[in-house]
Amino acid sequence: MKTQVAIIGAGPSGLLLGQLLAKSGIANIVIEQRSAAYVLGRIRAGVLEQTTVELLDQAGVSARLHREGLPHDGVELCFGGQRHRIDLHGLTGKRVTVYGQTEVTHDLMDARTAAGLPTVYEAQNVRISGFDGTQPQVHYELDGVTHDVSCDFIAGCDGYHGVCRASVPAASLNLHERVYPFGWLGVLADVPPVNHELIYVHHERGFALCSQRSHTRSRYYVQCALDDKVENWSDDAFWNELKCRLPAATAAELTTGPSLEKSIAPLRSFVAEPMRFGRLFLAGDAAHIVPPTGAKGLNLAASDVGFLWQAFSEHYGGSAGGLDAYSQRALARIWKAERFSWWMTSLMHKFPDTSSFGQHMQQAELDYLFSSQAAMTVLAENYVGLPMV
Ligand code: APR
Ligand code: PHB
Repeated sequence: MKTQVAIIGAGPSGLLLGQLLAKSGIANIVIEQRSAAYVLGRIRAGVLEQTTVELLDQAGVSARLHREGLPHDGVELCFGGQRHRIDLHGLTGKRVTVYGQTEVTHDLMDARTAAGLPTVYEAQNVRISGFDGTQPQVHYELDGVTHDVSCDFIAGCDGYHGVCRASVPAASLNLHERVYPFGWLGVLADVPPVNHELIYVHHERGFALCSQRSHTRSRYYVQCALDDKVENWSDDAFWNELKCRLPAATAAELTTGPSLEKSIAPLRSFVAEPMRFGRLFLAGDAAHIVPPTGAKGLNLAASDVGFLWQAFSEHYGGSAGGLDAYSQRALARIWKAERFSWWMTSLMHKFPDTSSFGQHMQQAELDYLFSSQAAMTVLAENYVGLPMV
């Protein structure tokens, strides 16, 4: 088989890129190692920046998002038992949209099927070759048969554990990493959210987050130890711990219920540079990870894809500059989102090894944040998403 762009991975990066390329008349195939049901079973974050929504508009996959997504004009931070609202819209003129990554992925899969675009699920032993020359290829097995795809370019949208970044010679990559000494225990439940906007909570027992998917489905998190296990947490234990970390009046309004999903995620900051190696381009989690505190993971994946789509469109439109600029353009935005996610993680969590000095710095920073319009604006403009330049 022959195509223009072979996309590895059917997460949001790969599927969005495929849709945008198809809109521009650029032929592509998506090759995914898991089943579609498995991909849709992964519960991820659910806060979309305006630029992400605009890209989904351009891809023609946003009809349900506009019907069912919840526009949020503000977000709350709670510390010392006091809730403080950041007026995102008042400070920046922008808002975010609450709509789960699972739903975004669902819409992208439906659109791909409706457009009849080629997609291979449950591909085994996916390998890439020739990307350092002029004849890149993707090889995979399906039902015991080996397939080879010849293409102009490979888009590595295969996440943190994927094959694409791993296929690049180590000497060509610069890796930057910070692993945080805690995780997030998350629960999804069909209960109405405790508040109409998200609440990020700093508490001496550890961070907590009150998030949501809809008016009837909530997503809550509590900071936990890195070596903690989901089996250690009954639903009751989770709800009790969450209530401990909320102000009493908020805890009193919390509706609890049986968990639909419960999982623990470690927190990591990670960047691999550059994001282009000859005819291989990385996008999304394949190139970078942010801790979830700023809700930037999906949004960064989307902006990478936006830059890559522009680059391929320019290339096939006859101008070479776009492909050369991709890595630098994407990384400039990525590093700023890495900074914001690291900062918000550092601000809101309990660090097991922090001295009393460190604790006072955190308190002073939170105190300052709510006394300064300038500081709140900095948070707000990063939270709603920096422009794609
Ligand atoms: N071959 C084919 N597909 C692969 C391979 C492989 N060797 N390795 C991984 N994949 C697939 C995974 O099964 C997954 O479906 O690539 C896909 C990558 O999807 P994601 O991990 O969701 O990454 P991405 O599309 O970049 O989306 C980033 O996901 O992790 C969140 O916070 C992150 O919201 C952000 C978003
Ligand atoms: C979520 O709803 O899962 C969520 C929201 C905001 C975050 C992280 C996760 O910062």
